[in-house]
Amino acid sequence: MSAEHPIPAAVRVHFLADHRRLEWLLDRLISAFEANERDEIQRSWTDLESSLLVHIDAEEKVLVPALRRRREKEAISILEDHKRIRARLAELGAGIDLHIVRLETARALVQDLRSHAQSEDRIYEWADTELAEADRISLVSAIAQTARRIGRSFAN
Ligand SMILES: [Fe+2]
Ligand SMILES: [Fe+2]
Repeated sequence: MSAEHPIPAAVRVHFLADHRRLEWLLDRLISAFEANERDEIQRSWTDLESSLLVHIDAEEKVLVPALRRRREKEAISILEDHKRIRARLAELGAGIDLHIVRLETARALVQDLRSHAQSEDRIYEWADTELAEADRISLVSAIAQTARRIGRSFAN
């Protein structure tokens, strides 16, 4: 791709929208905890866990390896954040399975996701200008299915 033909900011637009959906799912989960609505806790947890893992896996499979070749420190920092987010998610899931809901774990995940999202904003910009088209397409396609599914309730 040449610099004379700027690429549409597809990765940034889609992944930032996915961050907003993930945060909304987490808000929904926290509200369900607060209201002690068992069915809603289970539904929002399933949506959150699957969408978040799809998002992180796509970044690690396509974005991080390319980033690592050019901006290694940022790639490592993303991987460290993902490790912490996965651990927090597992902790939250275990609490839900045992019906011991820990609100502070959910709130800590909100904080982790927010600060992680901020650091990824400029990485997505980089991806839109530097990644090969096939990689950008594979990133956006990886989250397309969950985006459609969650997007339906998110928009309502
Ligand atoms: Fe990430
Ligand atoms: Fe992300």
